Amino acid sequence: MQNDTVTFVIDQKEVRARRGQTILEAAEQAGVYIPRLCHLKGLTPHGSCRVCTVRVNGRYQAACTYPVADDLVVENDTEELRTLRRDLLEMLLVEGNHFCMFCEKSGHCELQALAYRHSIAAPKYPHLWPRREVDASHPDVLLDRNRCVLCGRCVRVSRDVDGKNVFGFVGRGPHRHLGVNSRRGLGGSDLSADDQAVTVCPVGCLLRKRTAFQVPVGQRRFDRQPIGAEVGAGAGSPQPSESPMQ
Ligand code: SF4
Ligand code: SF4
Ligand code: FES
Repeated sequence: MQNDTVTFVIDQKEVRARRGQTILEAAEQAGVYIPRLCHLKGLTPHGSCRVCTVRVNGRYQAACTYPVADDLVVENDTEELRTLRRDLLEMLLVEGNHFCMFCEKSGHCELQALAYRHSIAAPKYPHLWPRREVDASHPDVLLDRNRCVLCGRCVRVSRDVDGKNVFGFVGRGPHRHLGVNSRRGLGGSDLSADDQAVTVCPVGCLLRKRTAFQVPVGQRRFDRQPIGAEVGAGAGSPQPSESPMQ
């Protein structure tokens, strides 16, 4: 019979994990933070953003989807991988239209917090300045696609948790964008401002109207502690108080 426990090494630290866990989950349980953006605890992994890329026995893998196994040697916090993640984050920042100083999500935004963690002051790539639609048709929720990173959290939560299937991806390649299941836009869907799908967006793409800038600078989520600091302090990411998925 197969043993339920596996032992592997991450950043030279030996870690015991439950068979079936992903590297990201097992690392987090052992107090090792692996940056992530599309991953959200409690949801089926999406594996799309690649921010969680690690080397497993020398090969690049997404830590949020790769299962633990005995004798894996995982590199995570290396200069090479920090540089790779920095590049990915910079690409995400120039692919969309991000103006943090005017954004309601500033201070609560995981993309911004990851950029700070990776010492990104300004992306080195040229901005693409795409034209993207803003959908303000819902009375209580704003959808600003300019900030969407296509992480799929809202898609999975609306489908698997809210049971509504409000969101889905439309188009391919550079034209891929977030769609809603109503021709009249978000206002024609059965989305409610209380739906969990609205709360899980890591960036300022899905926002509850009339709630902007309520938390003063200095007290916002990532003012209190940098992203990832909670791992190793006994909890995973996102913080339990902030995530409806706990
Ligand atoms: S979504 Fe995040 S990165 Fe984008 S403008 Fe807002 S705070 Fe900045
Ligand atoms: S709206 Fe937010 S949660 Fe949904 S795909 Fe875009 S970035 Fe992700
Ligand atoms: S967090 Fe693993 S691919 Fe996005």
